[in-house]
Amino acid sequence: MAGFKLFEPIQINTMRLENRILLTAMVTRLSGEDGYVNQPILDRYARFARGETGLIVVEATAVHGAKSGPLLRLSDASFVPGHRELTRRIHDESHSKVALQIIHFLKIARSGWRQTVDMLSHDDIHLIVQQYGAAAARTREAGYDAVELHMAHAYTMSSFLSKRNARSDEYGGRSLETRMRAMTEVILQVRRQVGPDFPIGVRFDGEECIKGGYGLSEAKYMALRMAQLGVDYISISAGGKFEDAVKKEGEPLYPYTGYSGDRTMPPAEYQDGANVYLAAGIKAFVNAHGYPTPIVTTGKIPTPQAAEEILQRGQADIIGFARALLADPDWPKKARLGQEERIVRCVYGNVCKALDENFKQVKCTLWLKQGLHPPDPPPEGDEAPPTWPGGGQLQAARQANGRVLLAWERAADPQGVYGYEIFRAVNGGRFVHLTSATTTRHADDHALAGNTYTYQIKAYDFAGNRSGPSNTATVEIPLPVPVSGDSLRLNGEVEAEMGYTA
Ligand SMILES: Cc1cc2nc3c(=O)[nH]c(=O)nc-3n(C[C@H](O)[C@H](O)[C@H](O)COP(=O)(O)O)c2cc1C
Ligand code: SF4
Repeated sequence: MAGFKLFEPIQINTMRLENRILLTAMVTRLSGEDGYVNQPILDRYARFARGETGLIVVEATAVHGAKSGPLLRLSDASFVPGHRELTRRIHDESHSKVALQIIHFLKIARSGWRQTVDMLSHDDIHLIVQQYGAAAARTREAGYDAVELHMAHAYTMSSFLSKRNARSDEYGGRSLETRMRAMTEVILQVRRQVGPDFPIGVRFDGEECIKGGYGLSEAKYMALRMAQLGVDYISISAGGKFEDAVKKEGEPLYPYTGYSGDRTMPPAEYQDGANVYLAAGIKAFVNAHGYPTPIVTTGKIPTPQAAEEILQRGQADIIGFARALLADPDWPKKARLGQEERIVRCVYGNVCKALDENFKQVKCTLWLKQGLHPPDPPPEGDEAPPTWPGGGQLQAARQANGRVLLAWERAADPQGVYGYEIFRAVNGGRFVHLTSATTTRHADDHALAGNTYTYQIKAYDFAGNRSGPSNTATVEIPLPVPVSGDSLRLNGEVEAEMGYTA
């Protein structure tokens, strides 16, 4: 994509990124509870590097030894060799640079009890500051190009920044200055440990998205403080708090189950770029104070065009992606080559998030069912798109209560069909990608009375080649809202006829 700002290099302290595409940290649950780098971790991140992501931020890695589920660690020197192997693998694959996100978290119990920052003594806080510094030094030793300090979501550093920080001392919630004290000490300590020429990034919430939490008006000052302290890039996230998490009996709280969790990983119903306004507000403020510190924005940014527009509008300097790159790690390479049509698009259904919540290995629902990693395109090159042996038959049947059932013929491809993209046009408008499926069935639950919907399917293969469009199928849904028993057949009847089993 010649002329795209997304593919302009950017310098961050001593690190040069070849493009402005950043894989935000994403826990994979591929490590064991021992926290060591293992083969699946090496393979997962090497796959991202093959796709040419500018900066890969390796998942949250604990600075301390506290018990948790499967999570990477860098809490002592024994973890360094594994991380050194990881950075070597990534650097061997492509020009991708690699940072490590380091995290401190407090204790939580299945009973629902959780430790909060007001339970920490001054000695505890000083230990956390030391642990961040020591882990950052090991990050550099292990060959990473940068370290990212996790100060977002439900974890220790974010909880100090929070407006709900219940301490009453100099690290407490009395003022913005006191809430920023722990953050300030950690950044200064990390800088002391890694030296002036090693890039430090910080990830924090531009808005807590909970009642009584902070918003953009305070986040701007936090970012300014980070810039003043010499942080080299600032990555803006949102929400992800324990305060509004949904309690499940006998399970530890997962901080992405409430509204604030939706704001961290916006589901399909949310608008694209749902959190861009936070990065835009922070960038304008920090830049206006004379700091050019690069700002990263993230959150349901689906396409190269959407990313480019954010950069062109000056709302951010770098675009962060998690799920879009999980769905297709070749996203950056395909975008660079102008092959946007070949990108396997995330459908934002959050199956990956549910796996993380349940401590299961994080995979994408769009991959092959048996695969632990996204499949590599065939090495010999595969330019031939899937075809429709039957001419691309598509059926659409209207059901009661705003549902349209779709069923289409199976496509054919010598290397195998990988999935199907479903497009929908509303009232004669243009076709827009609705979702993707790995089977030949889909139920559109968002078909509203008073509209005419036309559907079309494209099959894609392992290399991302798209077939030509299937036939179109059109459904008109008159007002008033049809209900079961109106001139429509019962849902079960239609489902059976179209081959639905569920
Ligand atoms: C499975 C999963 C694990 C995640 N783990 C982390 C993490 O370790 N650290 C972090 O800062 N954010 C984490 N996130 C949040 C993502 O980095 C990202 O901010 C979020 O998914 C929104 O971006 P997206 O719409 O591009 O996916 C995780 C998200 C998912 C889906
Ligand atoms: S599991 Fe769903 S939300 Fe997660 S990356 Fe895959 S398509 Fe996207």
